[in-house]
Amino acid sequence: GTLSGGIDALPGNVPAGNSVSKEVTILFGSQTGNSQGLAKNAAKTLEAQGYQVTLSSMSDFKPNNLKKVKNLLIIASTHGEGEPPDNALSFHEFLHGRRAPKLDDLNFSVLALGDSSYEFFCQTGKDFDKKLEELGGTRLYPRFDCDLDYDEPAAEWLQGVIGSLNEGQGGSAAQELSSAAPQAIGTSFSRTNPFKAEVLENLNLNGRGSNKETRHLELSLEGSGLVYQPGDSLGVLPENDPVLVGALLEELKWNPDATVTVKQGDDRSLKNALASYYEITVLTKPLLQKVAELSNNEDLQKLVAPGNEEQVKAYLDGRDLLDFVRDFGAWGETAQEFVSLLRKMPARLYSISSSLNANPDEVHLTIGAVRYQSHGRERNGVCSIFAAERLQPGDSVPVYIQHNDNFKLPESPDTPIIMVGPGTGVAPFRAFMQEREEIGAEGKSWMFFGDQHFVTDFLYQTEWQKWLKDGVLTRMDVAFSRDGEEKVYVQHRMLEQSKELYKWLEEGAVVYICGDEKNMAHDVHKTLIDVIAKEGGMSPEQAEEYLANMQQQKRYQRDVY
Ligand code: 2AM
Repeated sequence: GTLSGGIDALPGNVPAGNSVSKEVTILFGSQTGNSQGLAKNAAKTLEAQGYQVTLSSMSDFKPNNLKKVKNLLIIASTHGEGEPPDNALSFHEFLHGRRAPKLDDLNFSVLALGDSSYEFFCQTGKDFDKKLEELGGTRLYPRFDCDLDYDEPAAEWLQGVIGSLNEGQGGSAAQELSSAAPQAIGTSFSRTNPFKAEVLENLNLNGRGSNKETRHLELSLEGSGLVYQPGDSLGVLPENDPVLVGALLEELKWNPDATVTVKQGDDRSLKNALASYYEITVLTKPLLQKVAELSNNEDLQKLVAPGNEEQVKAYLDGRDLLDFVRDFGAWGETAQEFVSLLRKMPARLYSISSSLNANPDEVHLTIGAVRYQSHGRERNGVCSIFAAERLQPGDSVPVYIQHNDNFKLPESPDTPIIMVGPGTGVAPFRAFMQEREEIGAEGKSWMFFGDQHFVTDFLYQTEWQKWLKDGVLTRMDVAFSRDGEEKVYVQHRMLEQSKELYKWLEEGAVVYICGDEKNMAHDVHKTLIDVIAKEGGMSPEQAEEYLANMQQQKRYQRDVY
């Protein structure tokens, strides 16, 4: 299976006879919570069918117990450049290492989550699938690789898995298949049924003259019944830039008012569908391939021919649907045929910057406006510019809560915390502070913040100062990178304070990092290892081990993007 699994998946290797046990272990590897949500849902569905389910994050699962597992379901997303999510790292490493056991008695199936606009689409799921087979496991049902819009293929995978398990029980494969479908009953708001939240406030946090624009949004959750914890994220469904939609419509020969069916029971005008249902700012390799097949455009067929992976990658980079249609023409006989190759607009996840306890019925976001040039045109981040330029107080926007167990305040309000959050990475730490203030937590806290300039970019400056004054926040170190001769970043401040930092670690502090992954989080990680090695008198390897241990104990948590 490749894109949506269900279409080209091969039949599974159903174990013969009654060899399938009623015990199922579900392991998830999740960075933002999608895999975890699916795993929870799968557990519920299987339990309702009489299975005994063990549900666990990969990081909480003792790999030595793997030999005892009869039926293993793996739900894993892929992070960054084909890497496992943080809570899948150790399990992934274990399976690929020398200590991996023979698993001849294991039945397994893998659900892989990913984004087909990335080169290493669903790589982590593919790794697990391949490895479990190599170790002797039997596939209960083929792997499904899901793109961003994963609900349907995930439900189909689960149905297939249950069918296969039931068959192994000697039961009917078709037994109660419908109950595996995502539950849309009730009025609760969720990813598949977002709540229209009213905008209460929309401010620019940066001062005049800043290179940046960071929006502070306050939304109302009144009447939604939605709740969240500090560390959770909000999924936001944006609308495309109307100027871009207009330009695209000009390239297409169809009437903007032509009716298209975006999904069963949902007919819209082409214009509306392009504005708010489909993704038009990202190109994917599968799209290019499908269009090449459909349109008979020779140039495009040449581009996607085997062996041209690098050229395809270069073409996709920084281009959108408008570029593509201008370069190779539109495809399809009808507007319907045209849109049916597009991906659904994915929601954007933002770390929530408020505590619900401190702001009943409200949720706050801190969003960096993304604007850039590429291939000779001004481009906008879809959701950030929607928020920055087109959301006014009184408007409403579809949202849902994405719970994230991987980024949570410690259970005890007395546990010290260290927060590293430059730029918009500050968001969840504002929520942490609001929460700790609200509940009167006594634990120490230390914030590292950084941005370009003190005068224009110190996000929520007065709030931080107040928390410091009131003792809610114990320490704050800031790094304004462009105020001095030389760049200073949060990790430089951490290194300056290495002695004290290590002391906090030894006292059991939890370290949180939020923000840019590629540069910041990576450098901060290296700095933490340096700090531990230096102050703990350890080798770099021992320091890495120390940090890996912290991660295992949930004392090193990252929310990075
Ligand atoms: P710069 O843009 O001046 O290089 C928030 O965006 C802050 O993070 C800015 O001060 C930015 O600095 C800084 N930043 C950029 N790269 C970083 C890195 N590798 N590590 C830490 N901070 C970084």
